[in-house]
Amino acid sequence: MTDKIHYRRDGDIAVLRIANPPVNALSQEVRTGLAEGMNRAEADTGVRAVLIVGDGRAFIAGADIREFGKPPQEPHLPDLCNRIEASPLIVVASLHGVSLGGGLEVALSAHYRIAQPTARVGLPEVHLGLIPGAGGTQRLPRICGAKDAIGVITSGRHLGARDALALGIIDEITENDPEEAGLSYTRTLLAEAAARRPVSELPAPEPLDWDAVYEEVLKKGRGQISPAAAVRAVQASSELPFVDGLAEERRIFNDLMQTDQRKGMIHAFFAERQVSNLPELKDTPARQVEQIGVVGGGTMGAGIATAALLAGLRVALLEMTQQAAQAAGERIAGNLAGALKRGKITAEQQSRMLSENLICDTRDAALSDADLVIEAVFEDMDVKREVFGRLDAVCKPGAILATNTSYLDVNEIAAATARPSDVIGLHFFSPAHVMKLLEVVVADKTAGDVTATAFALGKRLGKTAVRSGVCDGFIGNRLLNACRSAADHMVLDGASPFQIDSALQDFGFAMGPFAVSDLAGLDIAWAMRKRRAAGRDPRERVGRYADKLCEAGHFGQKTGEGFYLYEKGRRGGTPDPRVIDLIKAERVERGITPRSFSDAEIQRRYMAAMVNEGAKVLGEGIAGRPLDVDMVQIFGYGFPRYRGGPMKWADMTGLPEVLADIDRFAQEDAYFWSAAPLLRELVAQGRTFDDLNRDA
Ligand code: CAA
Repeated sequence: MTDKIHYRRDGDIAVLRIANPPVNALSQEVRTGLAEGMNRAEADTGVRAVLIVGDGRAFIAGADIREFGKPPQEPHLPDLCNRIEASPLIVVASLHGVSLGGGLEVALSAHYRIAQPTARVGLPEVHLGLIPGAGGTQRLPRICGAKDAIGVITSGRHLGARDALALGIIDEITENDPEEAGLSYTRTLLAEAAARRPVSELPAPEPLDWDAVYEEVLKKGRGQISPAAAVRAVQASSELPFVDGLAEERRIFNDLMQTDQRKGMIHAFFAERQVSNLPELKDTPARQVEQIGVVGGGTMGAGIATAALLAGLRVALLEMTQQAAQAAGERIAGNLAGALKRGKITAEQQSRMLSENLICDTRDAALSDADLVIEAVFEDMDVKREVFGRLDAVCKPGAILATNTSYLDVNEIAAATARPSDVIGLHFFSPAHVMKLLEVVVADKTAGDVTATAFALGKRLGKTAVRSGVCDGFIGNRLLNACRSAADHMVLDGASPFQIDSALQDFGFAMGPFAVSDLAGLDIAWAMRKRRAAGRDPRERVGRYADKLCEAGHFGQKTGEGFYLYEKGRRGGTPDPRVIDLIKAERVERGITPRSFSDAEIQRRYMAAMVNEGAKVLGEGIAGRPLDVDMVQIFGYGFPRYRGGPMKWADMTGLPEVLADIDRFAQEDAYFWSAAPLLRELVAQGRTFDDLNRDA
């Protein structure tokens, strides 16, 4: 027995307790211990049943993800599951906390399953680019039918105990301590002389129109393959004997294990947990935050206030006029009504948030008790500096003063106060109560405990917080601008915005860049282009067709016209042919002979621009680790998670190949395509961005 499994006898029941903190992942030692525990129980005279329970906060959170990609070590999980199921003893699993992936597969190999009311089960392997690989796709359909099994497996969602009971995944919900409840349930089974009940012996599930289901799931996955592959595995459970179905599941699992999608998603899994773990803040305590001030009650301010209320914080929102304060309150109430509708809060919580935890006011003094104030006013340096001067006067000592600016210099904003060490950037993404990304912009004088507080607040708000240094656009918008320029250049040279959007959606982006511009409002980028025009290098190529759209009052979705035309009540838009005319006219004016671009070339150029800018942002120290850039893109910019983020994508594509692309593009436009020194350095050293993650 390994020391990860504790064996004890309780009368004629052998208890196997899994103790592998923090979440009882099925490492090689755990698998070995479980197999040995089963052997010991079967050899132990008088034992008639085995109870498997987890120690600590979970039954089993699944396979040990850290072992993926390494040579598999015996005992293999599918063999262990078969071995448990084949036991001549009655086997019971008592679940608490989570039972995920391989954890649920172990439970499905037991003959009976009970769970605490708060237990959650699921087969989330698709989120790691895989399918369940230890019988999950064969056993689950035999329990709940093919249709429901496909729903559970292809979504990877967690089911609460009640849903699990309804689907027959568990046999009973019990309130007690998992071991106590398990022992009592097992004793009853023994007293009733209950029979073994191997799931593999249940009838095969009903057939479905497999090709139709496969196509539907494939389409929904936007390029992600594992959910669709899972459909084929469930199909095998319906069409093949159990043993052959298991072999088919294994074949598909092993194929997926070799894919870049699996590598990308597992990178994202660990990066998501690492990103807010800054080594330099390990021993820095955060300041206490219970009351938040928000300055400005527009879409962004109201979204931030909503996020804070949803996290149980008190909010004081400041507006200029009574009317604006009232409108902000209504916006927040609307957001909370949405949260209620989606089942995120109860009606009681909603009314408490609005009546007890929120005030919308016009007097600066409303912010005097706030522990942290976030400014979300008009994006203009003079306006921001004026607001920060006022905050400095009214906020209590030790209060943190944060700006939600997307581009402006946080050092300059901090200088408008007498306490620059308390100033930080908190860049939320709209809608702020929904979007997961929070860029924490650390200025030159920001104190360590202010940064630590920002990360603690991000966690409390349920955000993925990423550290960024100060520069124009921080990490996210720097990359966005670079890619957007690459897209503009392709439009000038012959591609259409619509082809670019479609090619990038095929790559896996939630939306293409032109559709995103329509959503954000074309006037915002227009104003920025005008602001930057004076200092622009004459070598920079900037398209004018988007300015022409704006001059005609076409600002995107909000005006019903942008790159696309929008009809009221219909989702998405249709390409506006007038945009093509504007582009053609500009090409004639510039003397450009248009050429065609393949979708692959569009993707390649767009990604090369993103990776190159990512490498510059890293080289300048704006982002600390490549994984920070990856998380910004995945959580804030609709980058496909299954590609792991742009820097991981670059590693998997090959840095020499990406650099060769950039150097080739530079022959046409050396100014835009100047390769990042860090990228050249990594290629010269034969290293990857992931190596930098490991060094950090
Ligand atoms: N393997 C290895 N480590 C794991 C793990 C796993 N399956 N699940 C969680 N961990 C680690 C995390 O990396 C984290 O480590 P650090 O503290 O060092 O950062 C720690 O456990 C705690 O995890 P969280 O911070 O995520 O804690 P949480 O309470 O927010 O969430 C959880 C807990 C719900 C279990 C979540 O971690 C989770 O969803 N884990 C992944 C579950 C999963 O995908 N299981 C399926 C694995 S694939 C499989 O089983 C395939 C197969 O059939 C062979």
